[in-house]
Amino acid sequence: MENKNNIYPIFDRMLTKQDKEELLGQRSVMIWFTGLSGSGKSTIAIALERELHKRGLLCRILDGDNIRSGINNNLGFSEADRIENIRRIAEVSKLFIDSGIITIAAFISPNNDVREMAANIIGHEQFLEVYVSTPLEECEKRDVKGLYAKARKGEIKDFTGVSAPFEAPQHPALALDTSMLTVEQSVNKLLEMILPKVQM
Ligand code: ADX
Repeated sequence: MENKNNIYPIFDRMLTKQDKEELLGQRSVMIWFTGLSGSGKSTIAIALERELHKRGLLCRILDGDNIRSGINNNLGFSEADRIENIRRIAEVSKLFIDSGIITIAAFISPNNDVREMAANIIGHEQFLEVYVSTPLEECEKRDVKGLYAKARKGEIKDFTGVSAPFEAPQHPALALDTSMLTVEQSVNKLLEMILPKVQM
């Protein structure tokens, strides 16, 4: 902390986001998925990335379980740790965005405050919030990772939707309920929204 005053960022001499976008022939944007565990965030993110990639667009996915086993492997699921989790993810996302890359984050990010923090770090004008609104009952019925069963038995504490809160976004750019839509339908809706923003 005491060295903070001796730090001189050199951003003014670095190439800009626009330079990188020109190089790649695309505009970067942040696609921020939020929703319960098991709602389908990662599945949609992966399918979306494939479709964008096919169209010659460079993407990067940041995903809960990967980030939490790497850069954020010292964080748990307390409120403070979830905030720090999202803060770091937003900072890392910004690095990708500033490199002209379409960045796709798939994290529960359980409340308006953490999502607002992420949008502030990344920049609201390039932040697209996508709510994967699959109902809790459906996520719990799927229970792909078996975590809801454990949470109900009290084997996992502070589990989102069971013993920790989830606050739905008020004005998402898009809401996708995967109990009503196929992956393909969700991806098509996303492409309709994203392609005009990223294609040059
Ligand atoms: S967030 O709340 O901090 O945004 P994140 O998306 O990184 O969460 O991680 C969620 C994933 O961690 C879940 O999909 C699940 O696999 C796992 N997990 C383990 N414990 C919990 C918990 N207590 N609450 C929610 N998810 C948990």
